[in-house]
Amino acid sequence: DQSQVLKGRKIIVTAGGTREPIDPVRYITNHSSGKMGFAIAKAAADAGAEVTLIAANTSLPHFDGVSVISVVTAREMAAEVTKRFAEADGLIMSAAIADFRPETVADHKIKKVADEDKMTLTMVKNPDIVKSIGKVKRADQFVVGFAAETNDLMANANKKITSKNLDLIVANDVGNKKIGFNSDQNQVTLIWPNGETKKTSVETKSKVAEELIKIIAEFK
Ligand code: C5P
Repeated sequence: DQSQVLKGRKIIVTAGGTREPIDPVRYITNHSSGKMGFAIAKAAADAGAEVTLIAANTSLPHFDGVSVISVVTAREMAAEVTKRFAEADGLIMSAAIADFRPETVADHKIKKVADEDKMTLTMVKNPDIVKSIGKVKRADQFVVGFAAETNDLMANANKKITSKNLDLIVANDVGNKKIGFNSDQNQVTLIWPNGETKKTSVETKSKVAEELIKIIAEFK
């Protein structure tokens, strides 16, 4: 069956945006809705893959054939991806991971201090999940990363493909309101390690996901 191009392959997909707590009622996050990652998980499952979707703070409906694991923070995402990767044929890292988290999480709501017009929050670096996976990746496994950029899209994406040892990077311009975060449409530039690129047209995230799955099916 032509449509079952990923039959028997185990794929991990990450989606959504991590939340990094400040205190019991506040957190730092980003604009990722998880729509692109969910569309990829669905396209992979439709192509016959066994899909595990690790979702950070999404409110999208789940669907048959995909097992969903919910996480909140970057460190929880890192733990779930790391413990599953050895068993997988590939990882598609579409989640927006916070690069930094508050150094400490207050155990009670932080109060305003009378007469203080500023407050300082110290942030520490989160683990770079895809970068550490890139270091343990076997020749029979693939890793696809995403690059959401507001400027210098191609230059930044090219740097990431090397520094993170990716097999493919999906670059999108999140500065463009018609595509990207929370939109149902997307337009991406696929970049291969050999410098080859392919830009999709503006189309639904499902369509972009299907194109991506076809390309991934040709990896090995
Ligand atoms: O460096 P940047 O965050 O733009 O790289 C984007 C890619 O790296 C995405 O695939 C994202 O999921 C992944 N990433 C990660 N761990 C981080 C930050 C980003 O895996 N801490």
